[in-house]
Amino acid sequence: MSDRDPANRSAQIPRCPGTSWDDIMATDTRPVPEFMKEDAYEYRGSEPLAAERYTSREFMELENRKMWPRVWQFAAREEDLPEPGDYVVYEIAGRSYLIVRQEDGSVRAFHNVCLHRGRKLRTESGWAADFQCPFHGFTWNTDGSLKHIPCRWDFPHLTEEKMKLPEPEVGRWGGYIFLREEPGGPSLEEFLAPLPEHFKRWRHEECTTAIWVAKVVPANWKVTAEAFMEAWHALVTHPQLLPFTGDANTRYNIYGDNVNVAFTPFAVMSPHIDPEGKSQQWIVDEFVKYNGRSADNYDGEASLRVEVPEGLTARRALAEAARKQYTQMFGHDHSHATDSELLDAFTYNVFPNFAPWGGFMPNIVYRWRPGSDPDHCLMEVRILTRVPPGQPIPRSVPMKMLGADEPWSTAKELGILGDVFDQDMENLPYVQEGLKASKNGEVQLGNYQEIRVRQFHQTLDKYLAD
Ligand code: FES
Ligand SMILES: [Fe+2]
Repeated sequence: MSDRDPANRSAQIPRCPGTSWDDIMATDTRPVPEFMKEDAYEYRGSEPLAAERYTSREFMELENRKMWPRVWQFAAREEDLPEPGDYVVYEIAGRSYLIVRQEDGSVRAFHNVCLHRGRKLRTESGWAADFQCPFHGFTWNTDGSLKHIPCRWDFPHLTEEKMKLPEPEVGRWGGYIFLREEPGGPSLEEFLAPLPEHFKRWRHEECTTAIWVAKVVPANWKVTAEAFMEAWHALVTHPQLLPFTGDANTRYNIYGDNVNVAFTPFAVMSPHIDPEGKSQQWIVDEFVKYNGRSADNYDGEASLRVEVPEGLTARRALAEAARKQYTQMFGHDHSHATDSELLDAFTYNVFPNFAPWGGFMPNIVYRWRPGSDPDHCLMEVRILTRVPPGQPIPRSVPMKMLGADEPWSTAKELGILGDVFDQDMENLPYVQEGLKASKNGEVQLGNYQEIRVRQFHQTLDKYLAD
């Protein structure tokens, strides 16, 4: 359904005039799947948000108590713990968990706290034959059952049953491992819908973590996540992207409570740019210079040289080049891949803090974790690359933690993306400070371009309300 269709209940909400996402999909050289054409916007009100949602310790404690234990959380990727005995220490919102690969290849999660006097069993990810507490030596098997208590005679009151490590639920999809602390509520499949359906084309289960960089950001986790939920801040924050980014042409879809997406077209000029005197070749040249997701970042040299033949669009020429390049680099057949899936940003979000990008290019995956106060969070950026057919999935690279004084651009593996993140970071501490300094204590949202932020807060409120 087109957004110009009067039958669409959202048609009264204005959209950026000019080229629409529908117009761009209509020019694709391959059949475009229905979900990429669907207009799944829904008007959800225009009320302001309270600034204290981002700044108050009480609100953070409410999230920690009522929201985090009840949601499916992206805890690890399969390639982080490929072998039996491999484990990941996953910490969030005041909790600490061990995600452990079992002998039979399954994955279980446990609370990472010794049931004697409470020491964390492990502080870093690694491999273990068992989990012996470094304080007095209480020991657990990797399946969470009790293995050994030194001076057993002194603990006749501790039964094997009582000493099992508490175990959150685990769910797996697409190479991602999720946990939920409190049982009950929707299954993982229900929680993620319709994302697994869309990602059937992009198969993140055949990808591995090739790049993984993290940094503590001096801003609330929601402030930080929301800076990646809309494309239109490119206008002022990332002006170098405008020559090849349809920022204001982005389609924003929301699906139920947990999932949303921004489809942002690349290789088209922003509607904010005066097209007078700008050639299709100019779009290509700017794209090659400043687009952070081309495969060039992953083979170490800028090999994408694209000439736009007379009469062809930048989009057509770049898509064809990307189709060839990705096939060559990753070995999979991309002949069915739409131009859109080779060029555009499909930035999905899953409530509350997981954002895997779709498409066939190396995929960005974000995760934001709250800090120990409302003013900090940990932002992680992974880049997944496709593993050639028939080859085993390599283990993840280790996470590179940037220091407070190290900008994202010091992580050279991120290429030009590092500079883009640094531009985002220029805003975030001052958003946090501004929210505290605000006179009216209100945050306003655009009806269309910021619908993902509104959906996110409405879902959060549902958890906090009961
Ligand atoms: S606190 Fe773990 S063995 Fe004592
Ligand atoms: Fe940004």
